[in-house]
Amino acid sequence: MTKRNTILVLSGKGGVGKSTVSTNLALALSMNESKVGLLDADIYGPSIPTMMGVQESPQLDDQQKIIPIQAHGIELMSSGFLVEPGQALIWRGPMIHKIVQQFCNDVAWSDLDFLVIDLPPGTGDVQLSISQTISVVGAVVVTTPQKVALDDVKRATSMLDSLKIPLLGVIENMSGFLNPATNEIIPIFSQGGGEQLAKDLDCPLFGTIPIDPNVCAAGDTGKPVLIENPSSPASKAFFKIAQKLVAQISKFNHDKVQSEVVQTRS
Ligand SMILES: Nc1ncnc2c1ncn2[C@@H]1O[C@H](COP(=O)(O)OP(=O)(O)OP(=O)(O)O)[C@@H](O)[C@H]1O
Ligand SMILES: [Mg+2]
Repeated sequence: MTKRNTILVLSGKGGVGKSTVSTNLALALSMNESKVGLLDADIYGPSIPTMMGVQESPQLDDQQKIIPIQAHGIELMSSGFLVEPGQALIWRGPMIHKIVQQFCNDVAWSDLDFLVIDLPPGTGDVQLSISQTISVVGAVVVTTPQKVALDDVKRATSMLDSLKIPLLGVIENMSGFLNPATNEIIPIFSQGGGEQLAKDLDCPLFGTIPIDPNVCAAGDTGKPVLIENPSSPASKAFFKIAQKLVAQISKFNHDKVQSEVVQTRS
């Protein structure tokens, strides 16, 4: 696998589970013997420190680069490590660009295989800054099963088009309620949104993750479900999604190399 595959995790609207998916995907990728970094690019509303259960102030190395925080075997960076918990973040537009640049260029990440970037909802300054600052292999879109959510998602994917960021695939989260007593999935929302979206966007649906009280509880207490309960249906879904994501990235990297070879020859 080519080094440092940077993956954006985005959605059309807030609260669909980007941070949950970013955290658990990063962990699933790292359990496959890969070196993984997780960058919380939700500068105003960081949630990775809470979800990963760490609150530390990063140190600088002798080259004045920020040393990422380590937790559960992965490297982390978040604006939440730079301010006291609960303190208001009052950075404005131009500062946002500076912070994104620092997070991308001035963090002493080790030689990562994957850098997962958890984006804020929608289409804004952070998304633009990231696309101007680093090269990404592609983006995954998180959506919920309801079809009404799809218009928002399409706005986000048309932003990807204009920034020339490839869409790797779709993940459907909150796909029905997992009854803990029976392990049965009860579809409480309408169904099929992720599948429809993947079809419309002509990309794979990497998988669906049920609503699972363990996911929520684990996220709130800083013990991600993948660590706390790796054999739960939600964790199994994350592992499967991570596998498909890796396969898709390999395919993209392979196609890119092929087209570069063709270009050099012609
Ligand atoms: N599959 C799931 N089962 C149960 N709870 C979930 C699931 N996915 C996410 N949640 C919960 O839903 C809430 C929102 O999730 P999360 O913070 O990951 O969304 P987000 O898209 O990152 O939100 P924002 O747009 O505010 O950044 C959290 O409390 C999280 O624990
Ligand atoms: Mg979030």
